Amino acid sequence: MLTGIDHVGIAVEDLDAAVERYRRTLGIEPSHREVVQSQGVEEVLFEVSDTSIQLIGALGPDTPVGRFLAKRGPGLHHLGLRVDDVASTLQALRTAGVPLIDESPRSGSRGTTIAFVHPTGMGGVLVELVEDAR
Ligand code: CO
Repeated sequence: MLTGIDHVGIAVEDLDAAVERYRRTLGIEPSHREVVQSQGVEEVLFEVSDTSIQLIGALGPDTPVGRFLAKRGPGLHHLGLRVDDVASTLQALRTAGVPLIDESPRSGSRGTTIAFVHPTGMGGVLVELVEDAR
């Protein structure tokens, strides 16, 4: 069911400044930028090999990432795991007693289908299941 690491999500205070820093210091160019209203974020992806670094800015303080930034400051936010089927993976995790944030799949950026798994069941790491657009 797990087919790869789709992306590593990093919460940033200033998205444009962070993009510029990654471009300048790592010599990589952004491949995608998108506002995801349903998640209250704007994200920029840098493809690296077959995965991506995802910089995430909050659309406002009263969003999940806005609250994360206020509480913990910028830094690693979540791990995006690529799966072939989010719905069946959610079902398997539910059966295993893993706490879920999303009880059912929803739309993510780039036409993906996603669901978040609670960090308490994943060693303290917020995990996002990602199924590629078909
Ligand atoms: Co993500």
